Amino acid sequence: MKTKTAIEFVGVFKSFEAQPVLKGLNLQIPWSGITTILGPSGCGKSVTLKHVIGIEQADRGKVVVDGWDMARIRRGELIALRKRIGVLFQSSALFDSMTVMENVAFGLRMHTKMTEEEIAERVHVCLDAVRLAGTEAKMPVELSGGMRKRAALARAIAMQPDFILYDEPTTGLDPNTSSVVGDYILKLQSELNVTSVVVTHDMPLARRVSDRVALLYDGEAVVQGPVDEVEASKNEIFELFIEGRLG
Ligand SMILES: Nc1ncnc2c1ncn2[C@@H]1O[C@H](COP(=O)(O)OP(=O)(O)O)[C@@H](O)[C@H]1O
Ligand SMILES: [Mg+2]
Repeated sequence: MKTKTAIEFVGVFKSFEAQPVLKGLNLQIPWSGITTILGPSGCGKSVTLKHVIGIEQADRGKVVVDGWDMARIRRGELIALRKRIGVLFQSSALFDSMTVMENVAFGLRMHTKMTEEEIAERVHVCLDAVRLAGTEAKMPVELSGGMRKRAALARAIAMQPDFILYDEPTTGLDPNTSSVVGDYILKLQSELNVTSVVVTHDMPLARRVSDRVALLYDGEAVVQGPVDEVEASKNEIFELFIEGRLG
């Protein structure tokens, strides 16, 4: 049976050495749809995502993913959970020494018993979904920035995940390419019916793709909810953020 929320942070604290990053974060991410975590650079967005995949653990409070308490989850269960989470990392989205085919096939080779033929078929389907069919033999350096993001997206969906996490999917891309990445986030969302979490400070992207947003600031979600409600809330910190005055 599914839990009410897909991902939940309950009073989460996290510090690195003496630097507190999360200071009692409460965050609810419902099943399906796209939830966007907004916030200025360095506020802890990537750290928050790392708690979802169990790379970081809360010092205090609770992170619950699909009903699993991430502080108590056993190794085997964590591995199984991670297979259900596709991640588009902020940087080094692809392995530079591997072809596009090998990149997209990576998780399938690691975690499944699929035959080479089945892998090739699945890779083709995923590349086709991001209009990159035919680039199988190319190396990442041969692709444009936007194509690399799309190839990374193909890799993120290869394992047919239930969750997709996007860390700054448009950072470093020009407005046109960013808009195309936004198109694919929406396209995959409607085709795959996954639960997506987008981390960004790109407000145009957030407005376009989000069902819900949460603004992370000073270690907490200062406002969260459906995007139109948050925009209408006149929350002072949110207004500063959209004016680009939060840093
Ligand atoms: N492994 C780590 N060790 C020490 N400090 C870290 C570590 N990971 C993140 N931080 C610090 O935590 C803060 C939040 O980082 P991050 O989540 O990457 O911010 P962003 O919102 O830009 O993604 C930053 O000050 C960063 O330097
Ligand atoms: Mg980050």
